[in-house]
Amino acid sequence: MLATAQPVLRRFWYPVIPIELLQGRPQSFTLLGEPLVLWLDADGKPSVVRDRCCHRYTPLSQGIVVDGNIRCPYHGWQFNSKGCCVVVPQAPDSPIPENYRVQSFQCQERYGYAWVCLGDGLDEILNIPEAKDPSYRLIHAFYETWHCSGLRLIENVCDHGHFHFVHNQTLADRENPVSSPHNVLEKTERGFYFESILFMHNNPHMEKNVGSSQKTMKIIRKINWCMPFGLHLQEMMDGKELVQVSITYATPINDSSCQMVRFLFRNDTEAEAKAADIITHEGLIFSEDRAILETIDYDVPLDLNEEIHMATDKPGILMRHKLAALLASHGEIEQRRTAA
Ligand code: FES
Ligand code: CO
Repeated sequence: MLATAQPVLRRFWYPVIPIELLQGRPQSFTLLGEPLVLWLDADGKPSVVRDRCCHRYTPLSQGIVVDGNIRCPYHGWQFNSKGCCVVVPQAPDSPIPENYRVQSFQCQERYGYAWVCLGDGLDEILNIPEAKDPSYRLIHAFYETWHCSGLRLIENVCDHGHFHFVHNQTLADRENPVSSPHNVLEKTERGFYFESILFMHNNPHMEKNVGSSQKTMKIIRKINWCMPFGLHLQEMMDGKELVQVSITYATPINDSSCQMVRFLFRNDTEAEAKAADIITHEGLIFSEDRAILETIDYDVPLDLNEEIHMATDKPGILMRHKLAALLASHGEIEQRRTAA
């Protein structure tokens, strides 16, 4: 499936840029092949329009923010958050024609990110109950570009068959590659709910809760997949109070790249586990995933007869099923890369 060639994918919300990166300057971002510029308006709200001035096609992201508008660097026209031109310095006393405008899109701030939807929203921005719970702290873990399809990245987090090989040193060992079966896997309105139990190596940021003598942790994982490229994952260690909720998005940049956005909510404190240590440990694990995923063909077939599947692939199979059904229900045919 080529993400940029399936219009229905434009109707979902994606986290695009951390709000703090927009402080004082505009930023460009390509979402589903659409070049965008984002900035903060006079009220501090994120705005997004196509990153191309309607006058001479200059990238607006090369300009600056003036009075909450984005100012083109070439002739200084200014555009507001609706994409309307509001200042033409060369003709200050003339009314500005209506066609002096650039396309704008829906944009909202949530959880420290600017979220963008390029079309009529099919859903709302993901609701995260832990974000409203004062016993949880928020940790921004990753914001980085991965050169793989979003579907491969999201499937990977739900794929318990790879831990023993890809994460042989960090999470599991090659000698015991048989995972416990999926306890629960059921469809939901927005994707699926998936519950499982894993046995993993102890790791530094969980260590305090386990006790240093214990080598293996029993982890209960509860995953909500939010179509098409989002995951809400709750992890608890058996018998312990620590709960870690991770939000992972593979925001689609184009067909071969995605922006890996990951943030955590944890019910412990900085004194118990330093955020920097947690990020370092996660970074080690995700670098192992990334090294594999960036070698794989980005054009993921939704047709189950193309790739071969095994029992631990059930979540990935359901993703393909639901995405194929999504395309069909919107009258779309899966688009694939054509051979050169
Ligand atoms: Fe943008 Fe002329 S190209 S104002
Ligand atoms: Co992995």
